[in-house]
Amino acid sequence: MSTVTADPAPSGSDEAHQAEFDAKVAADQRIEPRDWMPEGYRRSLVRQVSQHAHSEIIGMQPEGDWIASAPSLRRKAILLAKVQDEAGHGLYLYAAAETLGVDRADLTTRLIEGRQKYSSIFNYPSLTFADVGVIGWLVDGAAICNQVPLCRSSFGPYARAMVRICKEESFHQRQGYELLMRMMEGTGAQRAMVQDAVDRWWWPSLMMFGPPDADSPNTQQSMAWRIKRDTNDDLRQKFVDMTVPQADKLGVTLPDPELVWNEERGHHDFGEPDWVEFKQVISGSGPKNAERVERRRAAHEKGAWVREAATAYATKHQSDREAAA
Ligand SMILES: [Fe+2]
Ligand SMILES: [Fe+2]
Repeated sequence: MSTVTADPAPSGSDEAHQAEFDAKVAADQRIEPRDWMPEGYRRSLVRQVSQHAHSEIIGMQPEGDWIASAPSLRRKAILLAKVQDEAGHGLYLYAAAETLGVDRADLTTRLIEGRQKYSSIFNYPSLTFADVGVIGWLVDGAAICNQVPLCRSSFGPYARAMVRICKEESFHQRQGYELLMRMMEGTGAQRAMVQDAVDRWWWPSLMMFGPPDADSPNTQQSMAWRIKRDTNDDLRQKFVDMTVPQADKLGVTLPDPELVWNEERGHHDFGEPDWVEFKQVISGSGPKNAERVERRRAAHEKGAWVREAATAYATKHQSDREAAA
């Protein structure tokens, strides 16, 4: 939990550093924590990586709600593993953020005090067990579309964290799809439950890619720095094109009357998500925002003794080592 401060920049003028940085980014080399970087680049990464870390941790809640009532031991084991993976993703990402000179405890405080955002998707309720399947299929599926290009992000620690995370996300997506396949082979009530969950999660999943490009002030700069590799609208299109055949195979209808294959473009056309709703949810007024953050706060406070014990243990070992030396 200590603050990791980057070493001072090597000697040389800011212009020389900037030129070296630009050349590295242009050559698709990685920027590492000890390298000189523009302050805006660092700030932008702190924002993106910490929002991403918070999303992984808050994202444990909608599915975590179903662990105790999973319908079989097998489903419980799968869901437990999946939710634990998300905790791990949060940890990798907080560690990546710390290499930029911020403190994880401070990031957690900012989340709990509502000063930092997380993905809007986790502010919707998970009403039935079909939601577990649909979250895996659509939400983790959208996360994969977003995150695979981030494996080539210009910032080394972020890119490397994403490689492992993406492998686990692909397990998450498959477990969700497999669960839905089984439910669709079941009773009429089970099939209706799946369709209802798809109807509720489809639009929020499309919102996961962020606002339209024209309304996304950070996108151009992030792409120039190669933190991001694709625009929000391109990624959304990719997700729709990937998901439509999966929905057909599953036998569910995606709730968008404008969704149609466009031969000329070689892509699906689709309707516009409700961006007013998106803005409300991302700014704290979604159905579950208050509950998600409150639960995170309670978990953080309940975990204080673990942090204290770990710190005491580390201190004791440090002084034992010093005594032995
Ligand atoms: Fe994750
Ligand atoms: Fe996931």
